[in-house]
Amino acid sequence: MAKPKVLVTRRWPAAVEAQLSETFDAVLNTGDKPLSEGELRDAMTSYDAVLPTVTDKISARAFDIARPQARILANYGVGYSHIDMHGAAGHGMTVTNTPDVLSECTADIAMTLLLMVARRAGEGERELRAGQWTGWRPTHLVGTKVSGKTLGIVGFGRIGQEMARRAHHGFGMKIVVQNRSRVSPDILARYGATQADSLEELMPQCDFVSLHCPGGPANRHLINTRMLNLMKPDAFLINTARGEVIDELALSRALWFETIGGAGLDVFDGEPRINPDLLDCENLVMLPHLGSATREAREAMGFRVLDNLNDFFEGREPRDRVT
Ligand code: DGY
Repeated sequence: MAKPKVLVTRRWPAAVEAQLSETFDAVLNTGDKPLSEGELRDAMTSYDAVLPTVTDKISARAFDIARPQARILANYGVGYSHIDMHGAAGHGMTVTNTPDVLSECTADIAMTLLLMVARRAGEGERELRAGQWTGWRPTHLVGTKVSGKTLGIVGFGRIGQEMARRAHHGFGMKIVVQNRSRVSPDILARYGATQADSLEELMPQCDFVSLHCPGGPANRHLINTRMLNLMKPDAFLINTARGEVIDELALSRALWFETIGGAGLDVFDGEPRINPDLLDCENLVMLPHLGSATREAREAMGFRVLDNLNDFFEGREPRDRVT
């Protein structure tokens, strides 16, 4: 029987690409150039599976095709707000993602940002590299102590829980969570956490707020001027979820006028373009979407896509089916 034809939209770790080429009739993107919407649409009409990732915007328009050949979009990444789910469902296409395997590494980056912004590490590094460090002094780049403070976690899925583990067991932080559904008492107890009924209740209690909820239209600008105004004037906001969750104009104003203490961002609305208003904010640490960027996580994500494809083409329910 002919092997299914699969298209990989970006460069993947070599070990995974090798396995994909062995198992499938795989076309790899050796140039790593992102595909246009038209190319993604064409791919869906000529491959049995398309393997997109976070940089592939597959909008409703991309699904405007008579009959796709692709029956599965096996996404490389846990977030899938770049795929129009109605469009996929309208063609009866299966969509899968890659949860679990990146949770620890993404939480590590959230903790990195939290520590960096609280301890002014970005400012310090910029100063040192610019040759402007004049030496130790008691008042130099004084930051905020992290240990023992209160961390609010918005979205208490796998990554949110890994963040809570690090913050509570590593730094003795008090954890307050906000989540769409009720979190079971056993899970909350693992991290000494309590659950707030709403974001309005959570925001004013916290010294740090870390976002771990999905992106997409439902959570677009969840953190807006009103929410930022509810934060303590010295509190910090961390985002490793999706850029669109924060109204960046509102955030840049809050940072600029110091109505909050600072922020750490790994994701941006419309990335890789960065809103110029953010670039001048000293109390902001920015990373280029590095959440899952470890060799271990990126390989595991690829092998998880392979598992999903194997299940699908062998007639089993893929374990990470999201629609
Ligand atoms: C994801 O998986 O959704 C990340 O943002 C990329 O690792």
